[in-house]
Amino acid sequence: MRAVASPRHHLFVCGNRREGSPLGTGCGARGDALYDALKKEVNARGHVVSIWVTKTHCLGICPKEGATCARYPSPPGGPIVTDVVPAEARALVDEAEAMMASAAKEPANPWAAIEHELATTEELHTKKVLDLARRLKPGLTGEDIQNPHDFPELTDPDWHYADGILTGVKTVSSALRALRRRGEEG
Ligand code: FES
Repeated sequence: MRAVASPRHHLFVCGNRREGSPLGTGCGARGDALYDALKKEVNARGHVVSIWVTKTHCLGICPKEGATCARYPSPPGGPIVTDVVPAEARALVDEAEAMMASAAKEPANPWAAIEHELATTEELHTKKVLDLARRLKPGLTGEDIQNPHDFPELTDPDWHYADGILTGVKTVSSALRALRRRGEEG
């Protein structure tokens, strides 16, 4: 098990489907539509790294209208809302933004702030390294580039330079997490 960076706000949307159940059909297609609307809103506002939207199975409410959504950290009214329709995606993202803004005003936790910065940097560099690899050999996956020696196209010096930077970022992230863990344990 290893700890990894977390989003600043996480929205879980039920897309559960069931057939022939007295509990109903599940959020199903209504959940899919809400998930798509939330992803669109988050992408449009440039929050892909800080606000995650994840589709889940049943969250235990099973509405007849709309879908169920859980929010973490929890807003003042509680973490779970139901009967949510796609037109309300904007309000959920507004609320997430407001919570992030208010958290930013609280006394900073330097560990969390540094970890967040490193996670953002790692995500950007991971994308850059994969994009560069795909320019050299289309179709390569993230797993493929873990084994660059299997692909002669990746002998490119620019790709190795970018991959070296990514390795450095990952090393610093991992060292920082170990340091934080040691500090918290003792
Ligand atoms: S099926 Fe969506 S909350 Fe149960």
